[in-house]
Amino acid sequence: MDGKIALASGESRWITASETRAFAHSIRADSAAIVVGSGTALADDPELSLRHGVIAAQGPPLRVLLDRRLRTPLGAKLFDPTLGSTLVITSADAEPAKQAELHTRGLAIRHADGGDAAAQCATLAAYLDEVAAPDLPILVEGGGIVAAALLRADLVDEIWWMRAPVIFGADARPAIADLGIDSLAAAPRFARVSATPSGPDLIERYRRTR
Ligand SMILES: NC(=O)c1ccc[n+]([C@@H]2O[C@H](COP(=O)([O-])OP(=O)(O)OC[C@H]3O[C@@H](n4cnc5c(N)ncnc54)[C@H](OP(=O)(O)O)[C@@H]3O)[C@@H](O)[C@H]2O)c1
Repeated sequence: MDGKIALASGESRWITASETRAFAHSIRADSAAIVVGSGTALADDPELSLRHGVIAAQGPPLRVLLDRRLRTPLGAKLFDPTLGSTLVITSADAEPAKQAELHTRGLAIRHADGGDAAAQCATLAAYLDEVAAPDLPILVEGGGIVAAALLRADLVDEIWWMRAPVIFGADARPAIADLGIDSLAAAPRFARVSATPSGPDLIERYRRTR
């Protein structure tokens, strides 16, 4: 309820009910790619696959890791090509031996000049063009630092806000990290498109108003 996505310890499984998580998987199925930051990869070791009986007609979405220092361990599920295709967006000088190993495994590695969110999105868009990915939205699943970087760069068009009836408090990890906004006029605003109960949870959909 209070906009937190994990406890301070990093524990986050599971916050929402199974029907809400199943719905989240259906959003995955309607996406060209699912993006996470290295903080999420390190904390959760996500597989970013389709589960809960969800199938994507056009094939599973590309898994995308934003990891400028390539801190994610080689044993991560995102680095296992048997679990899905992964694009790693990193820096040219990050962990050369690890980049070589990932390349050997057949993962796609791209370098985003400058490493900011805009450069990473341009790199991802170019890759999706290169592999002729379906023309579908890109879903960013977090965490809060990456979400804030995208909001600061005004690259967020829609938000699916899945709210469980639980409170974690200010010491927990935020859905959106610091934005550094100094006036209300500068705060990104969204219009609510829908609010749908999902078991004990509420699924809200917001669209950016510009
Ligand atoms: N409840 C949920 O649904 C949910 C979903 C996702 C995550 N989570 C939780 O969220 C927590 C992780 O979130 P987090 O905020 O700590 O980490 P995060 O946003 O997943 O990743 C942060 C890291 O991403 C890297 N990064 C790559 N590109 C970046 C960019 N353009 N701007 C900023 N950073 C960029 C940075 O490391 P480099 O500088 O090394 O690149 C940064 O430290 C975990 O506890 C996880 O369980 C919960």
